[in-house]
Amino acid sequence: MLSGIQPTADSFHFGNYLGALRQWVALQEDHEAFYCVVDLHAITVEYDPKALRERTRRSAAQLLAAGIDPERSTLFVQSQVPEHAQLAWVMSCITGMGEASRMTQFKDKTAKGGADRATVGLFTYPILQAADILVYQADRVPVGEDQRQHVELTRDLAQRFNHRFGKTFRVPEAYIVKETAKIFDLQDPSSKMSKSGSSPAGIIDLLDEPKASAKKIRSAVTDSGRDVIFDEENKPGVANLLTIYSALTGRKISELEDEYAGRGYGDFKKDLADVVVEFVTPFREKTLTYLDDKAQLDAILAAGAERARAVTEPTLAKVYDRLGFVPGP
Ligand code: TYM
Repeated sequence: MLSGIQPTADSFHFGNYLGALRQWVALQEDHEAFYCVVDLHAITVEYDPKALRERTRRSAAQLLAAGIDPERSTLFVQSQVPEHAQLAWVMSCITGMGEASRMTQFKDKTAKGGADRATVGLFTYPILQAADILVYQADRVPVGEDQRQHVELTRDLAQRFNHRFGKTFRVPEAYIVKETAKIFDLQDPSSKMSKSGSSPAGIIDLLDEPKASAKKIRSAVTDSGRDVIFDEENKPGVANLLTIYSALTGRKISELEDEYAGRGYGDFKKDLADVVVEFVTPFREKTLTYLDDKAQLDAILAAGAERARAVTEPTLAKVYDRLGFVPGP
């Protein structure tokens, strides 16, 4: 199993956590898992090098705080494992221009600024993502709904390579948990909660001050009614809050609907705010503790990269052989 997350913000948010990270933690129990902080992907848009270094470490600290166990799972930074970029080049040579042009995330990201201002790296981003997955021979890729198309591309590329050069890659599948596959913006429940797209009040960051996250829940957009019922069509704000509540407590949505029947939104939001505070308070403390010892954090990541390379080097050697390259030193 493999998955990745971008170090493009100071904190991950509840969409990242409920859509993906929670599954990462659960699946490491009975899968061989590789989890990476994808810094090569983060440089496809404008960024500040100093902030990137800081955010990469913050990302790793948050993954540890979320419960990724570096003994059990291989936790590493993408740029420390050169085979990702090497395989991405190979994959780019079997990807069609038209195929790459159909990736909706690229279209969304360039819709405002125009494709002229976008980099070639942003365009080929999904091909690097395919390489991330294939270089580990991953079977499963735990992600949120927005990554489904990239995993589909990965499957197509794996099949194409196997067909053209002989069976080399496993064909991976996205692992998407339906209930939490798409967490919405608290202020605009018609769009997904997103590091780049949401307003600060629309995102609950995992590293928010607990008081700030409670306030965001209390001021989340609902509707003019007062019934706490799960109706994504007509009450998307309430449905989103119910999803978050249910995911954090493990309680069924129907049970929550019963509990808040006839009580209006006030009580419901107040209780959810408490649940969120209970989650973010220890999470924040744990993350800050990991960040206190940068040398130890870097050592965990270096050990992870070494373990990762034990898998990626043989895969790349096999690929190079299949491609017809002359064996090197
Ligand atoms: P990224 O960094 O945007 O997001 C990390 C994970 O969080 C999920 N996610 C969400 N899930 C539910 N609701 C939301 N509102 C929400 N927002 C984000 C994402 O689906 C993702 O699983 N391209 C990837 C990073 C990547 C990757 C990979 C993933 C690079 N290589 C290889 C899997 C395998 C991305 O930008 O995720």
